[in-house]
Amino acid sequence: MLKIKDLCKQYSGRQALDSLNLEIPTGELFGFVGPNGAGKTTAMKIMAGLLRADSGEIYIDDIKLFEDYNRLKELIGYMPDFFGVYDNLKVMEYLEFYGSAYGIDTRSAQKIGRELLGMVGLDGREDQAVDSLSRGMKQRLCLARAMIHDPQYLILDEPASGLDPRSRHEFKEILKNLQALGKTVIISSHILMELAEICSSIGVIEHGKIILQGSIEDILSAVDSSNPLMIQVYAHLDRAVGILKEEQAVSRLTVQGSHILAYFEGGREEEARLLKRLVDQGVLVQSYGREKGSLESLFLKITGSEEAGYEAESSI
Ligand SMILES: Nc1ncnc2c1ncn2[C@@H]1O[C@H](COP(=O)(O)OP(=O)(O)OP(=O)(O)O)[C@@H](O)[C@H]1O
Ligand SMILES: [Mg+2]
Repeated sequence: MLKIKDLCKQYSGRQALDSLNLEIPTGELFGFVGPNGAGKTTAMKIMAGLLRADSGEIYIDDIKLFEDYNRLKELIGYMPDFFGVYDNLKVMEYLEFYGSAYGIDTRSAQKIGRELLGMVGLDGREDQAVDSLSRGMKQRLCLARAMIHDPQYLILDEPASGLDPRSRHEFKEILKNLQALGKTVIISSHILMELAEICSSIGVIEHGKIILQGSIEDILSAVDSSNPLMIQVYAHLDRAVGILKEEQAVSRLTVQGSHILAYFEGGREEEARLLKRLVDQGVLVQSYGREKGSLESLFLKITGSEEAGYEAESSI
């Protein structure tokens, strides 16, 4: 179990992490999702021991990590969101170099390195210069590097960004294999659906705080139910708006052409009943449903930046 308690970090007066709390069970493939600037990279760097927190605690099982840096290094493998430049260093030399940082001798590093290169689909690239690898290949190499000392926890910062669809698929398979090997994998992204496909649980971060955490099913249903209903009306738009305005569960309404966006607090059954009411009263409904998997309205709702009340973008 990786446990983070009240983690705080400021950069020159700006709060990047604001009492972040998180518990990740061992063996989990955990997704860390949030918009740009939410604090994902900051939190992950702190977990990897590369950045100091202002306050807060991190525990793995019962080990308090900030007090035992060597133990933290052993337990955690980190893949950054940004790759440095490695003048003339070849792929295997690069792995040997990182291996030596963990006290692994050259021969062992080469043996482990070959296995890891096979695992990430880079076999045969041992002698190629790191700088001449494609971006996707550098990402795979970086994953191999994060695993050189066989850590129990892998912290991967946006590992799938910039990968083509096939590489993305292969990457997901690699992560699932790691989970099957008993590793705990923590992966960040700003796209919920990308994580939804592979992660068993998700933490949503915004302004340095976890605003939602749970199983993928729970998060998706919370997200979907916070998305507005999108109703396209073929005829009798004004009648439809009248019915929606009377509806208690509708907190806000926007009309754009023949589309109505209704922020609606009901579950699936209430959604279906509302559709029936519209149709029964003669509204010709062309399409009806909620957007799936978009985090936008959830962030607006939780952070309270959404105005209450009705609003019409065009005259009705
Ligand atoms: N080295 C730094 N100096 C000053 N401010 C920083 C620094 N690194 C991050 N920040 C600030 O901390 C906040 C969190 O940034 P962070 O990089 O952790 O976000 P993120 O969730 O990883 O975003 P992204 O999705 O863009 O990668 C932002 O407001 C950012 O501007
Ligand atoms: Mg980041």
